[in-house]
Amino acid sequence: MVIRPIAGGVQVLAPAKLNLFLEVLGRRPDGYHELETLMVAIDLHDRLSFLADDSGRIALECDDPGLPTGPGNLVVKAAERLRLEAGPDRSPTLGARIRLEKSIPSQAGLGGGSSDAAATLVALDRLWGLDTPPGRLRELAGLIGSDVSFFLDAPAAVCRGRGERVEPLDSHPESSPPEFHAVLVCPSVGVRTPDVYAGLTPPDRPVPIGPAVDAFLSGDPARLGRCLHNRLQPVAERIQPALGRVRSALIDLTPSLDGHLMSGSGSAYFGLARDRQAASDAASRLGDLGIGTIRVVRCAVPEPDTHPA
Ligand code: C5P
Repeated sequence: MVIRPIAGGVQVLAPAKLNLFLEVLGRRPDGYHELETLMVAIDLHDRLSFLADDSGRIALECDDPGLPTGPGNLVVKAAERLRLEAGPDRSPTLGARIRLEKSIPSQAGLGGGSSDAAATLVALDRLWGLDTPPGRLRELAGLIGSDVSFFLDAPAAVCRGRGERVEPLDSHPESSPPEFHAVLVCPSVGVRTPDVYAGLTPPDRPVPIGPAVDAFLSGDPARLGRCLHNRLQPVAERIQPALGRVRSALIDLTPSLDGHLMSGSGSAYFGLARDRQAASDAASRLGDLGIGTIRVVRCAVPEPDTHPA
């Protein structure tokens, strides 16, 4: 995430993510599913502005009238949860005014709400001067939602457990993870994550994640394209049959794309491209089909932690 100071507060660009690989290892006694997933941040961002005050209230306004601005929004949930960390003396006075400008579609499997929540934890921790240790911030992120922790560690990671156990892919500390280019299709219909998991039968023999991680680290889109896998995709396509059209459109673009996949629990799909030009060409061809909003995106782009105003 990119954080920059603004008058009286901070502004954060919170990225979306794609799942390049997602396998379900089993159903857990708590009702969640044990996952193994390879996630990368992309250059599609929500913008959040935070102003701290001593009102003791969290006030959220959002430019998308379809989203809740109360406790049902993960931004508010994250702010309220972080406020408790300040202890009984300080927390009643901690307040914030938050403005959320959405670009990441909801119910798309792109992690927009989770990324907004991670941005909220980082921004308010700074503005409220809490200095929460990184390990504790990660714990809080895991309590707010399965994907929130990833966004504290983006741009690329293998996530396990519910998704909250994050292993960043910086095996070469001196070099950034490789970049990939993709065409992103966001259908006008969304899919609810709990419905997808509820319709899933975990596989007897899960697909191992190793080859996908190796292919990702190789930087070779053709090799990565052969390892793309998402166990949730057939379930989402059963729940929302309109998604079959998106998949067909991406199949029709093969071999000019190196592979295609649904992200997370859907409904967004991406096609992996050799380079930015190939992604743009695919976007032009998909643009006329009426299957959704089409964008060209870059994956796993390293972002500076902060940049000047
Ligand atoms: O953790 P989060 O609130 O994002 O999860 C939304 C829903 O997705 C959960 O209530 C659960 O039904 C399902 N889920 C799951 N296993 C996971 C992650 C999510 O079953 N690992």
